Amino acid sequence: MKVLVTGTAGFIGSHVAHRLLDRGDEVIGVDNLNDYYEVSLKESRLSRLTPKQGFNDIRLDIADRAGMEALFAKHKPDRVVHLAAQAGVRYSLENPHAYVEANLVGHMNILEGCRHHQVEHLVYASSSSVYGANESMPFSVHDNVDHPLSLYAATKKSNELMSHTYSSLYGIPTTGLRFFTVYGPWGRPDMALFIFTRKILAGEPIDVFNYGKHKRDFTYVDDIVEGVIRTLDHVASPNDQWSGMQPDPGTSKAPYRLYNIGSNNPVELSRYIEILEDCLGRKAERNLLPMQPGDVPATYADVQALIDDVGYKPETTVEVGIARFVDWYRDYYKV
Ligand SMILES: NC(=O)c1ccc[n+]([C@@H]2O[C@H](COP(=O)([O-])OP(=O)(O)OC[C@H]3O[C@@H](n4cnc5c(N)ncnc54)[C@H](O)[C@@H]3O)[C@@H](O)[C@H]2O)c1
Repeated sequence: MKVLVTGTAGFIGSHVAHRLLDRGDEVIGVDNLNDYYEVSLKESRLSRLTPKQGFNDIRLDIADRAGMEALFAKHKPDRVVHLAAQAGVRYSLENPHAYVEANLVGHMNILEGCRHHQVEHLVYASSSSVYGANESMPFSVHDNVDHPLSLYAATKKSNELMSHTYSSLYGIPTTGLRFFTVYGPWGRPDMALFIFTRKILAGEPIDVFNYGKHKRDFTYVDDIVEGVIRTLDHVASPNDQWSGMQPDPGTSKAPYRLYNIGSNNPVELSRYIEILEDCLGRKAERNLLPMQPGDVPATYADVQALIDDVGYKPETTVEVGIARFVDWYRDYYKV
């Protein structure tokens, strides 16, 4: 298959591209290498992909309408895995416009490309943050998610709505994946595990929000990739049982699906830090702080829909996953 993957210099996109190339797919990789976090890390991820056969590395902003039209016209991908986005909850309070450009205008350009070039399946990244003010746990794709608490979450929810419209109007199969706090080797420097590791190794105190009482359904990156690949291969189809009298938010009479991809096992932040301390062989100096605006106290994924449709549930424990991250971090930064 020829697969357009956006965000190939990013954390999850680079892992997904490796998996697709390793099984013999052709990958058209798009990324604008923006400087939201260290560009050298993005370049290092790409430098491991570029030697692989079938990888086509393209520098392009997904918000560039003409550029995206030309990309689809030239490469005519069979399927699309759309992961490029402005990520991060906290940064969306600082720079909301970046989210409108990358996540709304960018997603629009992807949908239009799929519409005009008969793409067989669009799989795109949504986020656990769409659950916002929901408190009924575990979070289910069959629950209503109309109360986002950050603009980041609102753009991700909008991506789901925009995709539904295109599935309905043009019959384009779309699958939205709500990822739950992803971590692992080649991770993101703006995320807690990365920041904690850097600070603990440097002997600096770490900021622990919500006094460490946050619960997160931390999900190891290989488990996310497995979910992405399996859903990519399982083209979204209409739910024949769907009824407008009792509309199920997770499916539709259009070829539209949503899945949570989370470990289904929430871990308290303070426990996550303890495991990291064990792996690093050092204690953290903890600066205990209240909850941050836009944050939610807990996330917990109901993954039944993923199990039912693609026979899969993430299983890597945080003990295993954090150890692998620390091994990678020490090797990459030579510390
Ligand atoms: N990592 C997580 O815990 C998590 C959780 C939920 C959802 N997600 C979503 O998963 C996807 C991938 O996240 P990630 O953690 O790999 O983030 P990342 O920031 O590492 O990767 C995103 C990549 O997209 C690129 N990009 C951003 N804007 C672009 C634009 N306008 N044009 C072209 N390229 C652009 C960036 O340069 C980056 O390389 C994102 O959509 C994110 O919102 C991630």
